[in-house]
Amino acid sequence: MIRLDKLLSDAGVASRRELKTILKSGAVTVNGRIVTDGAVKLDPAADQVRFRGEAVEGPRRIVLMLHKPAGFVTSTEDPRDRTVMELIPESYRRQSLVPVGRLDKETEGLLLFTNDGDLAHRLISPKQGVEKRYYAKHEGTAGEADVRAFAAGLELRDGTRCLPAVLRPLGAGESEITVTEGKYHQVRRMMSARGLHVRYLRRESEGLLRLENLPLGEVRELSEEEIVLLYNIHKGQN
Ligand code: URA
Repeated sequence: MIRLDKLLSDAGVASRRELKTILKSGAVTVNGRIVTDGAVKLDPAADQVRFRGEAVEGPRRIVLMLHKPAGFVTSTEDPRDRTVMELIPESYRRQSLVPVGRLDKETEGLLLFTNDGDLAHRLISPKQGVEKRYYAKHEGTAGEADVRAFAAGLELRDGTRCLPAVLRPLGAGESEITVTEGKYHQVRRMMSARGLHVRYLRRESEGLLRLENLPLGEVRELSEEEIVLLYNIHKGQN
C-alpha cells in the first residue's frame, strides 16, 4: 500500500506541496471517485488513479531473485554483519525492495526480493502452503524412519510441532527436504531432531520458481510471466 500523494509525486505529477492544491481542486480520482486527501492509502497494482482524466502509473512491481552466498544476513540493516542488500544492484535499492522470508547467514540459495507487499505476504504465509525445497549435506544417512517422521509432522527438540514435510534421502550424508512453512532455522532444527546435523544448506526452489543456473551471488529480475506463476503458486507446485 502506498499513500496517494507519494504515488502522484513519484509519478512526476507535481511536488508534494503543489499536490495539496491539485487534490483540493478535485483533479484526482481513484477508481472513478474524486479524492482530495493525499494521505489515502492505495494499492498501485489494483487501484486506478487518474489526474485530469489521464491514468497515472504507480511504481513498477519488481521481483528479484538472488542466489545468496553464505556469510550474509537476511536483513535490510545490521550493526555487525554484511546484509543481503549489499548484493542488490544500486539501481534497485531505491525501489523499496525487501527480502521475502529469510535464509540463515550460512544458508545459500534462492532468496526473493520485492516491492509488492501482497506478493511477499502470500509467499511467506504457511496458509498458502508454498513449497520450499532445500538441498542439505549432513551428518549420518537419512533412512525410512526419518522419511516417515518428516511426513507425520516432526516435533522439534523444544516441543515445536512442524507441518508434514518431505525428506528425500540422496545417499550418504545428502538429502532433499521440502517444507511449507518457515520457522526459525526450520530445516536445520528438523534434521537435528533426527540426529542428521546439517553442515551445508541451499534453497533450490520456491513454488514453481527454481534457482536453476543463476550463479552464486548473482541477481536477476523476474519477468511478468514468472511473477504471475508466483501468484498462482499454490495451484501447482514443483
Ligand atoms: N531452514 C533453515 O534451517 N535455514 C534456512 O536458512 C532456511 C530454512
